[in-house]
Amino acid sequence: MNIMEEAGTVAQATISDTPLLRLVGVAKRFSAQRDIVDTVLARLIGKGSLPAVHAVDDVSLEIRKGEVLGLVGESGCGKSTLGRVVAGIHPKSAGTMEWKGISVDRLDAQQRKRQTLAIQMIFQDPMASLNPRKRVRDIIGEAPLAHGLVKPAELEAYVDDLMTRVGLDPTYQLRYPHQFSGGQRQRIGIARALAVQPEFLVCDESVAALDVSVQAQVINLFMRLREGLGLTYLFISHDLGVVEHISDRVAIMYLGRIVEVAPTVELFAQPNHPYTKALLAEIPRISLTPREFNPMKGELPSPLDPPPGCHFHTRCPFVMERCKQERPEMKTVAQGHISACHLNG
Ligand SMILES: Nc1ncnc2c1ncn2[C@@H]1O[C@H](COP(=O)(O)OP(=O)(O)OP(=O)(O)O)[C@@H](O)[C@H]1O
Ligand code: SF4
Ligand SMILES: [Mg+2]
Repeated sequence: MNIMEEAGTVAQATISDTPLLRLVGVAKRFSAQRDIVDTVLARLIGKGSLPAVHAVDDVSLEIRKGEVLGLVGESGCGKSTLGRVVAGIHPKSAGTMEWKGISVDRLDAQQRKRQTLAIQMIFQDPMASLNPRKRVRDIIGEAPLAHGLVKPAELEAYVDDLMTRVGLDPTYQLRYPHQFSGGQRQRIGIARALAVQPEFLVCDESVAALDVSVQAQVINLFMRLREGLGLTYLFISHDLGVVEHISDRVAIMYLGRIVEVAPTVELFAQPNHPYTKALLAEIPRISLTPREFNPMKGELPSPLDPPPGCHFHTRCPFVMERCKQERPEMKTVAQGHISACHLNG
């Protein structure tokens, strides 16, 4: 049985029309690391500033309450960076992020704190993200205590309830992370995120490190939480099978930019962007193994010096002169389906 058969049918949650989160022109640049020779040369010729890695480049996206938006793209295209900007781990370098219709830059300190708690991130490696020296009760209970969401006298019951909700035995509250399996540790990470009563989860390859059968259980848990708590997800994954199974819409990212967004069924049946087509061509339609795509022919260009015009032009089989100069705008190609390619006119 493959992972999707095990995970079963995804129940439909209620999706609102108004965006919970809206990104407009969001960018994230990092200063590139330079080795000693580069640094000395730069000083000699008087160029002191470091080149920038354009990890996220002018991204505009909307995610509605109750929705699961899948985010897909090759390694290094900026998915985690975008997820971290959304979760407030990295400050954005440019653009606007609106939460419930208000720019987060305009929130006062109290509102900003609430908004930061409302977006939580679930990481890939549960072991690396849990403090090995802390008991599960402290791992889960630390943040809600610190933020005044629970009184010390109520902590045990609060953690009990969270552990039960994520399918862990609450009598194990005083154990340490190493006393749990990989799947259970990921559940601890999920309980820790839920402890601050979030509305939005950024899942960054959150099931990638787990065995296939455990992946299906954790995916089921995410979907039950979506229904039970009305959660919204940005779901980053290399596994197109998982993304196809759980997402309402999918966004395709290439070298820092979103190049196509569509309802999931439409994206897989009628991809528009040549990059999306190439990604989907890499995977078999029916497979018993997780459907990871392999990087297509040609290297992903460096985000230190992205190609001008359409970033994909160095690898695109349909490249035209215009593509090398002019960045294609997002155009609507079908209802709710947008794509950035000059082939669309
Ligand atoms: N803290 C950082 N400092 C400098 N550069 C960074 C930093 N984080 C990410 N980058 C660079 O930004 C680009 C995007 O990286 P990111 O981790 O967001 O990609 P990704 O799509 O999540 O890749 P993967 O699928 O491998 O997880 C890469 O070139 C990466 O080297
Ligand atoms: S804009 Fe040009 S290079 Fe870019 S995907 Fe479309 S055809 Fe290919
Ligand atoms: Mg990543």
